[in-house]
Amino acid sequence: MKISVLGATGAMGGNVIKAALQEGFNVVSKVSSKDRIEDLFRNVDAVIDFSCPVATEAMLQYVKGSEINIPLVIGTTGLSKIHMDLMNRVSSFCRVFYAPNMSFLVAILNMAVYAFGKLLNEDFDVEILDKHHALKKDAPSGTAIMLGKSIAQARNRSFDDVANFVRYGIIPQRMRGEIGFAVQRCGKVIGSHEVSFMGEYENIKITHEAHSKDIFAKGAIKAAQWIIKQDPGIYNMNDFTKDLMVPMVKSLYKDFFARS
Ligand SMILES: NC(=O)c1ccc[n+]([C@@H]2O[C@H](COP(=O)([O-])OP(=O)(O)OC[C@H]3O[C@@H](n4cnc5c(N)ncnc54)[C@H](OP(=O)(O)O)[C@@H]3O)[C@@H](O)[C@H]2O)c1
Repeated sequence: MKISVLGATGAMGGNVIKAALQEGFNVVSKVSSKDRIEDLFRNVDAVIDFSCPVATEAMLQYVKGSEINIPLVIGTTGLSKIHMDLMNRVSSFCRVFYAPNMSFLVAILNMAVYAFGKLLNEDFDVEILDKHHALKKDAPSGTAIMLGKSIAQARNRSFDDVANFVRYGIIPQRMRGEIGFAVQRCGKVIGSHEVSFMGEYENIKITHEAHSKDIFAKGAIKAAQWIIKQDPGIYNMNDFTKDLMVPMVKSLYKDFFARS
C-alpha cells in the first residue's frame, strides 16, 4: 500500500513512517510545514495526517477544491467546528477516518465509559483527568472530550450543557449531571486518561495509560488498511472496531450472566 504522511517531521509522523515501513507500506510522500499540500496526493492509496489544525484545514480545503477521492486518516487533535464541517463536506465523495485517539484500548475504554454512563445514573459525578507531556498544544485532549461526549450521550444529555472545562476562584456549586474536565501538562507523559464515577458511598475509576506513541501509529496504519475498502463517508474508531467488538460484547454478557 502506498501512503503519504502530513506532519512527517513530527513525533507522530516519525512513528507512522516507522510503523508503515514495518507493515511493508511504501511511504511515497512526507509533508510538513515547508512542503506543498498537493504533494500528499500524488500516486497514493491513502493520506495519514498527524499535524496541527492549520495543516489539517489546508488539506481538507485542498480535497474540497479538487474533489479528490483519496482516503484520509486524520489523527490531528484540537480540531474545531470548521474542520468537522469540512470533513462532513468532503465525505460526500471522499473517505475520511477521524479519531482523536487511534488506540484500540482507548476504543474499549470509550465503550466502557458509555456502559458506565448507562449503568450509573447522575447520582454519580463524572470527572475526566487527562495527563500529557508539557509540549501538548490542546487542552483538554481530544480523547478526554470524546470520553465525555460518550457519557453525555449515554445519559441522553447535551454535551455542551453538562461539560465544565473551567474551575477557578469562587465557583458555582456542581450541577447535577456535570462532567468535569481537569488537565495536567508536564514532563514526558505520552498520554493518560482517568474517568471517575464518584458516588456518595463508592466510586469507580477507570484509567488508560499510553506507554508508547507506537500504539497510535499502528492504529492509524490499521485504519488506513480498513478505510480503503469503505465507501465515501466519515468514519471513526467505533465504525472500525464494531465488527470485532459487537460479537465480543454479546458473548461476554451472555457468558457472564450464564455463570452459575
Ligand atoms: N489521534 C491520535 O491517536 C493521536 C496520538 C498522538 C498525537 N496526536 C495528535 O497528532 C498531532 C501531531 O502530534 P505530534 O506530537 O507529532 O506533533 P509535533 O511533533 O509538533 O509535529 C507536528 C507536525 O505538523 C507539521 N506542521 C505544523 N504546521 C504545519 C503546516 N502549517 N503545514 C504542514 N505541516 C505542519 C510539523 O512540521 P514542521 O516540522 O515543518 O513544523 C510537524 O511535522 C497533534 O495534534 C497531536 O495531538 C493524535
